[in-house]
Amino acid sequence: MTDINFKYVDNSGLIGKEEYKARLERNLPSLDRALKGEEKYKDTLGWHNVSLWAGEEWLEKYEETALRVRKDADALVVIGIGGSNQAARAVYEALGRKNDVEIIWAGNTISPYSMNEVLKSLENKKSVYVDCIAKNFETLEPGIAFRVIRNFLDKRYGDSYSSRVIVTFTENTPSWNMAEKEGYTLLPFPSNIGGRYTALSPICLFPLAVAGFDIKAMVKGAKDMESRLKSDHSILNVALEYATMRTMLKEKGKSVELLSYFEPRFFRFAKWWKQLFGESEGKEDKGLLPMDTSYSEDLHSLGQFVQDGSPMLFETFLNVTERESTCPLPSDELEDGFKYLDGKDFWEINKAAFNATLAAHSRRFPCLVLEIPRFDEETYGALFYFFQMACYVSCNITGVNPFDQNGVEDYKKDMFKLLGK
Ligand code: PA5
Repeated sequence: MTDINFKYVDNSGLIGKEEYKARLERNLPSLDRALKGEEKYKDTLGWHNVSLWAGEEWLEKYEETALRVRKDADALVVIGIGGSNQAARAVYEALGRKNDVEIIWAGNTISPYSMNEVLKSLENKKSVYVDCIAKNFETLEPGIAFRVIRNFLDKRYGDSYSSRVIVTFTENTPSWNMAEKEGYTLLPFPSNIGGRYTALSPICLFPLAVAGFDIKAMVKGAKDMESRLKSDHSILNVALEYATMRTMLKEKGKSVELLSYFEPRFFRFAKWWKQLFGESEGKEDKGLLPMDTSYSEDLHSLGQFVQDGSPMLFETFLNVTERESTCPLPSDELEDGFKYLDGKDFWEINKAAFNATLAAHSRRFPCLVLEIPRFDEETYGALFYFFQMACYVSCNITGVNPFDQNGVEDYKKDMFKLLGK
């Protein structure tokens, strides 16, 4: 069982304990509605019950398809943007390579330089496969990247190229039919889940299975978190605690939430988190701006602003509690000014920096802390489910629809006009 604990440290006096408790109680109906899943959102709640898209039969299907690719490939190009690639990338880049298949990410930019870099990285690969992921295959970035990669595969492998193509598209759409005609392998994009809530579905699980990750452990972590959250309708529900504190801080004038971490490996996870909360909450002139800081590096850039700048923000720390890496500092005869650290490990020094930062920043604003046991698949499964549910609860508290994103259509209209669509 992955234990994720929530606490807050407040030496600023901004939120009193009684005030917080009263608000938790007031928010209980918002929690209740989210835990049950509301009828009005039924077409977008496919993620709510993890077994729906990550039950045993599905996992077997993802594994079976992955095995075929894994046996032959040394590279899998994953084409997708936003919710269609961020969860898998967060796990892949945090936990490190598990086998000989390298995932190469494409379709998340229109930069010609980046597209060429992808092609360059494929030159030395012997056996390339592609997984093109799109709920709505009208999205420009994956659309044009897929065309470039198809062209590459066709040139290199000739007519048999289609056996190297997997698409994860919405069933019975024109793009699904096109893929079927071409003889590609098809995986369904869950029709009842929007992109940013698809971490526990083929969108994320299939490419991770190809790259050798333990997707069963990931699903177990998510299911355990689902049971934990759904069985607690009290003010101690951890998703409610987190959602309540952050929405209260917004009311107190804090408009920015920084997801802060002392493990740079969380960088891609933070990108996933920013999309989840940014697209879900940022509407009707509401929502916190989700940003992140990677410490200790950013203490030397943004730390000044966080401590003393415009009082617009608060922080949520991700703190990994179990030591899994060690790097002892070697002793040295040289008088380099760091004698006081002799015999210490990077782990201890990093923790000291975290505790000191928490102490200093919590004098300015309440700091929220999510304690996470370790970096592994099970933990990531739990984290994905936790934040998805916490986001739903937060949106219920502020009264916005967590599952739409009409605002992103505005620039697209202008862009399509410029491109002559
Ligand atoms: O959460 C969402 O629905 C979006 O951010 C999508 O994930 C993103 O726009 C990519 O869409 P698509 O999978 O249709 O290419």
